[in-house]
Amino acid sequence: MELEERLLKLEEHLLENNHIRIDTKNPVHNATVRWVYQGEKEDSEIDVAVKVFQIPVERGDQRDHYMADVRREIKIYENISRKQNPHIVPCLGGLVLEKLDFAYIVMNWMPESLQQRLQTGNLTVEESIEYTIQILEGLAFIHGQTNGPGIYVHGDPKPSNIYIDDGLIKLGDFGHSRIVLPIGESSHGRFIGEIQTRADQRYEPPWDTKRAEAKPPLAYLPRVESDIWRTAEVFVEMLGIMKGREPNWQRVPEIYRSDLESLKKDLLGADEPEQMMPNAEFQSRLRYIKNIPTVIDATETVNGIVSSPADAWLSPEQIRQLYSQRDQVGSLIGAEHAKTQGLTAMIDERRSADTALLTSKLQYWQGEPKEATTDIATIDGTLAQITEAMEVNKAWQH
Ligand SMILES: Nc1ncnc2c1ncn2[C@@H]1O[C@H](COP(=O)(O)OP(=O)(O)OP(=O)(O)O)[C@@H](O)[C@H]1O
Ligand SMILES: [Mg+2]
Repeated sequence: MELEERLLKLEEHLLENNHIRIDTKNPVHNATVRWVYQGEKEDSEIDVAVKVFQIPVERGDQRDHYMADVRREIKIYENISRKQNPHIVPCLGGLVLEKLDFAYIVMNWMPESLQQRLQTGNLTVEESIEYTIQILEGLAFIHGQTNGPGIYVHGDPKPSNIYIDDGLIKLGDFGHSRIVLPIGESSHGRFIGEIQTRADQRYEPPWDTKRAEAKPPLAYLPRVESDIWRTAEVFVEMLGIMKGREPNWQRVPEIYRSDLESLKKDLLGADEPEQMMPNAEFQSRLRYIKNIPTVIDATETVNGIVSSPADAWLSPEQIRQLYSQRDQVGSLIGAEHAKTQGLTAMIDERRSADTALLTSKLQYWQGEPKEATTDIATIDGTLAQITEAMEVNKAWQH
């Protein structure tokens, strides 16, 4: 059967069995042996994407291998999307049509890929940080899915496989995904399981490049750490700081720069998978950086309250505010990755000013002198005492 005729039969099949209408003359993506179409689902409101695979017609090894690859992609994608994680492109199902020499996967239509967004040049540093956190959340979900003793890896995180739907990141394209069996401790990166074909080289971790350059080249081992490396490359691309090989940090606002610079260094400094930063640490550093503006705001609020005159009336409301602001600042600055030294110093300085001032306020209320201290527990105790003194004072006034 000619290709054209088979494509018409595929259109009919999709309409009859899935109530999906596609026009095979107009793919949105054409990779010679695979096409992606935008389709309408007649029995519902949603638009779908249909990824169609052309199976080699001639019987033999090539056909068998291709079919095994497609079956794996469908199975892995169906398994991963079953739990409906918000960061996975929903999959409506897939099928191999041996007689037509086609296979297909139906998914929800995604309005925009990260690649398209990058091309618009319209991506702020805040969005880049937020989207990277969400990519990592999606990957953590995938890596947390088990299949017998195995776990899943994505294998090919890159902008054309990542979508943005209503502010939410969704991961797609499970063509390089594998189920891997960690032997012993997975952090030692020893895997048995299926090998991988080479994924996009622009995002390739150095350990895979080394395997490719070995003579004879070695097989690629799918790894959780490689997914994280590729995400780190995507993150750097989003920040727009790699122009050719010259990093351009000018685009990054000053308040984030030193933290982002050291994060990039710590991520892309890994030569071996064992050195790769774990997903959770990557996420917590990003969340810390994302919070920097909040830290600055909180610091300024504390400064404002603290620099009121020593003998001024401090309302219980102000004290409560001071309390919660300090907790906020304290927990943010106390985070493991406090690298904003300027800020930390500023807050430390305010803390001692704070203590001195509060102590004198306390003296005002208690009528007895106390030593100033920078110990947080003492400040908190002091605040509690002031609050108590306030309550007593209020009760007394009535
Ligand atoms: N669910 C979808 N919604 C909208 N567009 C999609 C969807 N799935 C795929 N596409 C479009 O088709 C392109 C290719 O899809 P996909 O990445 O799944 O196939 P692929 O052939 O494995 O791609 P590649 O080999 O280039 O990574 C995507 O980059 C995107 O532009
Ligand atoms: Mg792709």
